[in-house]
Amino acid sequence: MVRIALACGAAAALLPAFVEAQYTQVKEYVGDSFFDDWDFYNHADDLTNGNVFFVSSTDAGKDQLAYVNDAGNAIMKVDNSTTVTVGQNRNSVRIHSKDYFTAGSLWVTDMLHVPYGCSVWPAFWSSAVNWPSGGEIDTFEGVNQVTMNQMALHTGDGCTHSANALQTSTLINSTDCSTAANQNEGCVVTTPTKSSYGAGFAADGGGVFVTEFANEGISIWFFNRSSVPTVLQSNASTINLSDLGTPTANYTSQTCTISKFFEPQSLIFDITLCGDFAGNQQIFAETCSGVCYDDFVIGAPSNYDTAYFEVKSVRVYGVPGENTVVSAARPGAPALAGTALLAALGVAVSVALAL
Ligand SMILES: *[C@@H]1O[C@H](CO)[C@@H](O)[C@H](O)[C@H]1NC(C)=O
Ligand SMILES: *[C@@H]1O[C@H](CO)[C@@H](O)[C@H](O)[C@H]1NC(C)=O
Ligand SMILES: *[C@@H]1O[C@H](CO)[C@@H](O)[C@H](O)[C@H]1NC(C)=O
Ligand SMILES: *[C@@H]1O[C@H](CO)[C@@H](O)[C@H](O)[C@H]1NC(C)=O
Ligand SMILES: *[C@@H]1O[C@H](CO)[C@@H](O)[C@H](O)[C@H]1NC(C)=O
Ligand SMILES: *[C@@H]1O[C@H](CO)[C@@H](O)[C@H](O)[C@H]1NC(C)=O
Repeated sequence: MVRIALACGAAAALLPAFVEAQYTQVKEYVGDSFFDDWDFYNHADDLTNGNVFFVSSTDAGKDQLAYVNDAGNAIMKVDNSTTVTVGQNRNSVRIHSKDYFTAGSLWVTDMLHVPYGCSVWPAFWSSAVNWPSGGEIDTFEGVNQVTMNQMALHTGDGCTHSANALQTSTLINSTDCSTAANQNEGCVVTTPTKSSYGAGFAADGGGVFVTEFANEGISIWFFNRSSVPTVLQSNASTINLSDLGTPTANYTSQTCTISKFFEPQSLIFDITLCGDFAGNQQIFAETCSGVCYDDFVIGAPSNYDTAYFEVKSVRVYGVPGENTVVSAARPGAPALAGTALLAALGVAVSVALAL
């Protein structure tokens, strides 16, 4: 829960009318143990039709596609040393957290570099076991040479982004979160700064994304390196929402009943190439020239020198006393559905989490 309104009376005289929610750390992915609690997809991209093979944990280590660098940061990257022959896919990485996080959780993701370049489609996002009925939250996503991050929800029918939401971004691309609307574009809000994606993000020393998944609403903040709040600059054991200010994007429960459209979420990092979104001809042509697969995937491996995540840490916080971390295999959890629907503009549509 986010805000506790106190009743009038004696207590209200002593305490503020609203007690801003405080979250406490429940899980961290950092340093040498960063990759311990994730599953690697180990399959071609049958989710978004990208031209990649998502390698196993063993191959990711062997080929240095997922590893912890000398600075102690997690690298996840597209293979930029192999010449791929016609008809083949390029190797890349897709991981999802073994743990699922319930409503009443907050994820803090500190990154120094995000993947970019023509044909490249990275995302840091989350999904329920059941998709789309259990919801998807896209904290970070972009394609090709766009310069700003986009955020979105993908849900069942009946969840929208409200014009009344208190948020700093005025760049609202679409408001219907339903996967059935607008070819599953989702309800997209753009992070209004060039330091939120691509070369601009890297040049600025990266930044921090925060995602609050609460029954009162889903909010996403982006802080560039020079504006990261003090509480997020080190390994805080607790975070008070009032220290984060107004979110960049805010999907309030007023127009999207979070408890109805969202189930526990698994965190996902992935980088695909071309596919339904980056490879869509019209979208590709907006920031790149040539042919996505022909000129990039099977082109010079150096096309992918910038196609990597460098992640300092991912920390998950929960409401004190609540059981935030749950296993997908919890009793009553439905069996995994398999491959998700693919849509023409599929924005990180997917689920098929190989359990
Ligand atoms: C969070 O910070 C606000 C503002 O400083 C304060 O009023 C509130 O009590 C804090 N919440 C908790 C749970 O400490
Ligand atoms: C999101 O917007 C709603 C509606 O304006 C507001 O009540 C809520 O406090 C906002 N959320 C955050 C985290 O600021
Ligand atoms: C969303 O809107 C912004 C601002 O108009 C634009 O720069 C961006 O390309 C749009 N994103 C998508 C996915 O259409
Ligand atoms: C970082 O963010 C702050 C606060 O939004 C802004 O004033 C500043 O211009 C940004 N810096 C860069 C390099 O974008
Ligand atoms: C970060 O803080 C948490 C909670 O206080 C603690 O359990 C953990 O060991 C710390 N991690 C590191 C890398 O210091
Ligand atoms: C691949 O990209 C990385 C990161 O940019 C770079 O350090 C490395 O030299 C590149 N590998 C090859 C074989 O060019």
